[in-house]
Amino acid sequence: MAELNYSSYLQTDVLLSLQRTRIPATADRTVVLAEHFFIVAHQSCELWLKQVVADLSLARDLLSSTGRPADTVDTSVELLQRSAELLRVLHEQVLALERLPLRHFVRFRPYLGTASGAQSQQFMTVGELLGDSGEEGELYRAFEDCADHHGCTVAEVCRLGITGGGLHRVAEALLDVGNGYWRWKVAHLGLMSKMVGGQRGTGGTTGEEYLMRRITLPFPELRRLRGALHAEELAASPA
Ligand code: HEM
Repeated sequence: MAELNYSSYLQTDVLLSLQRTRIPATADRTVVLAEHFFIVAHQSCELWLKQVVADLSLARDLLSSTGRPADTVDTSVELLQRSAELLRVLHEQVLALERLPLRHFVRFRPYLGTASGAQSQQFMTVGELLGDSGEEGELYRAFEDCADHHGCTVAEVCRLGITGGGLHRVAEALLDVGNGYWRWKVAHLGLMSKMVGGQRGTGGTTGEEYLMRRITLPFPELRRLRGALHAEELAASPA
């Protein structure tokens, strides 16, 4: 059997054969290369999303299980922190795509047909995990279960702050993930608006207006409970 090496381990031959541009190869080379750039940016996003979905799903499962704290709480903090970092990477990729020249994009966009990022199954799964459209998602419910297993509520975790130990770190990491997701959406709206303005999306939505409505901050209950501490502090402090 052939010895394992870099390309056979990573299957780079398969990976690097997947960037199939749609614009005819006879088109201007700069335009073909711009479409290649567009495909690489999207495919890279999907690869990182695969890791984010797996990490967040495991964090959810660990938080809802009743295992030892080191295996559940501490490991889920690690997974959430990694996802927050990967969302930063995804955000950077949106910024890199701002270097797609508009004059090239207008040439190959018609070849996208009705394909649209809104059809990304993995992004939809992240939305279900984090909660989209102002609703709490699977991760927050798992966090509530976890707090319950430890004999407290999320409100108490917020009140305890740093003395809440692992549960406090989970709350902080959830918000880092939520803010990272929100930042990605804002950057994506900026990119989209810069590239197509008020035009409709290839997926058939109104584009700008649709994406603006889709931007919400995940974990609204956690944010509300943390904010409520200010009112409690004011009520407790002498006039
Ligand atoms: C030139 C670059 C881009 C443009 C012009 C663009 C445009 C759009 C538009 C107009 C929509 C609304 C749906 C539609 O009608 O098509 C959309 C949604 C979306 N796009 Fe992009 N996009 C770009 C880059 C990206 C990249 C790099 C990704 C990463 C995979 C991505 C992922 C998404 C996702 C996940 C949605 C759904 C967002 C939501 O529902 O909140 N897009 N995009």
